Amino acid sequence: MSDDGGILIAEDEKTAREALARLLAAEGFRVAVAEDGRQAEEAIRREGPAVVLLDVRMPELDGLALLRRARGRAGQPAYIVMTAYGDSGTAIEAMKCGAYDYLTKPLDFAEVLRVVRRVVDHRRAVRGAAPLEAAARTVLVGDSPAMQRVYKLIGQLACSDATVLVRGETGTGKELVVNAIHGNSARAGAPMVAVNCAAIPDALLESELFGHERGAFTSAANRRVGRFEEANHGTLFLDEIGELSPGLQSKLLRAVQERRIERLGSNSPIAVDIRLIAATSRDLERELEEGRFREDLYYRLNVVTVWLPPLRERKQDIPKLVEHFLGRSGRAVSVTAAAMSRLCEYDWPGNVRQLENTIERALVVARDGVIDADEIRLGERAGSGGVKWSEQAPLEQGWWRNIQELERSMVERALAEAGGNKTKAAERLGIQRRLLYGKMREYGMEG
Ligand SMILES: Nc1ncnc2c1ncn2[C@@H]1O[C@H](COP(=O)(O)OP(=O)(O)OP(=O)(O)O)[C@@H](O)[C@H]1O
Ligand SMILES: [Mg+2]
Repeated sequence: MSDDGGILIAEDEKTAREALARLLAAEGFRVAVAEDGRQAEEAIRREGPAVVLLDVRMPELDGLALLRRARGRAGQPAYIVMTAYGDSGTAIEAMKCGAYDYLTKPLDFAEVLRVVRRVVDHRRAVRGAAPLEAAARTVLVGDSPAMQRVYKLIGQLACSDATVLVRGETGTGKELVVNAIHGNSARAGAPMVAVNCAAIPDALLESELFGHERGAFTSAANRRVGRFEEANHGTLFLDEIGELSPGLQSKLLRAVQERRIERLGSNSPIAVDIRLIAATSRDLERELEEGRFREDLYYRLNVVTVWLPPLRERKQDIPKLVEHFLGRSGRAVSVTAAAMSRLCEYDWPGNVRQLENTIERALVVARDGVIDADEIRLGERAGSGGVKWSEQAPLEQGWWRNIQELERSMVERALAEAGGNKTKAAERLGIQRRLLYGKMREYGMEG
């Protein structure tokens, strides 16, 4: 059977099983069927199919349990998992357990054929290299097709050591994705060390990354181990990589290429075993064109890219996200239909973070356990009592008060729309981050 691309359909539901069998037989595949997990295991042993279409929810032995048991055994078929649940947990788990791919129900037959043909054509054996440790479960919510593609990729990346670049607008969940990749990977037992390249002044970032020897520079009273070394055997997460200065870009390139670093003030290289994941919300291609980002570093980092779509392109995820954020509050609060449609109509420039903040604010003002449309404040800070900047600025208040209130409200709005991300807010306002920090301090807006 395995030589002519035979397919085993393991599905407990009769109609679905028979429909699939007919579909695949009509396409010229040899088809066998199994009604539960145990039958499937036996059929796999007996018939050695090339491909198994595997239902997750089955009596006797569910699909994921079967996958786990099969993992690591020689001569395994390619498993395509079918799940009624588009949730990230099942999808990632299936990929982690070595599934070749997964399909969500209701099945799209054209998609089934496409995936099956791809497996049969390539006959790519799936290696069971997934880690055995119980992995941190991811908390990503949303099952739009775009997010499902993300989950699938996370699952595949968890089984590899490839360098990953995570991209997407601010607040789209890049950090969660990075956590999921590390948490599901073989390195999950080792630390993930995160460095936010935008938050650390350039002058300090080099020693932050690479460490220094005592006396390497005037303020270096003690020796310091850098983040590269701390991440040894684990994952190094370089967040906001687009903010790196040219000088550091070339130092980083060397470290990444050679997987060796030197502490400042030392010239004995130290080998580091790290998996590198970087993230940015910048348009790196434009940064390349304009000469702000090194092309060679770009290619080094850009081995696999995970693109997180902006929330406005996956609005069907909004209700589930809202439910998730409400559920997390531990309060029994519901959202009226009018409020939900407001949430679904808005474009969310600050993406999921902004949605999260909006729900949190709405929770504060919700009465009687209900959030209505009025409680949804979009693109402004709840309770901000500043003047609305217009011709009505009260002249009697004087020049400086008005200017200050305008400044304050701009800073507030920029921060709200950037979902609290200061780099993005500064960018939006076209000012230096340092100036933004100064203004936030001035107006008591820290924290
Ligand atoms: N799919 C999701 N499910 C649940 N929560 C999410 C999801 N995506 C994002 N969030 C939440 O939104 C907030 C922002 O996410 P995160 O920090 O990962 O964004 P980011 O892409 O790294 O943003 P930035 O570019 O501003 O750093 C977090 O509180 C995170 O928990
Ligand atoms: Mg981030």
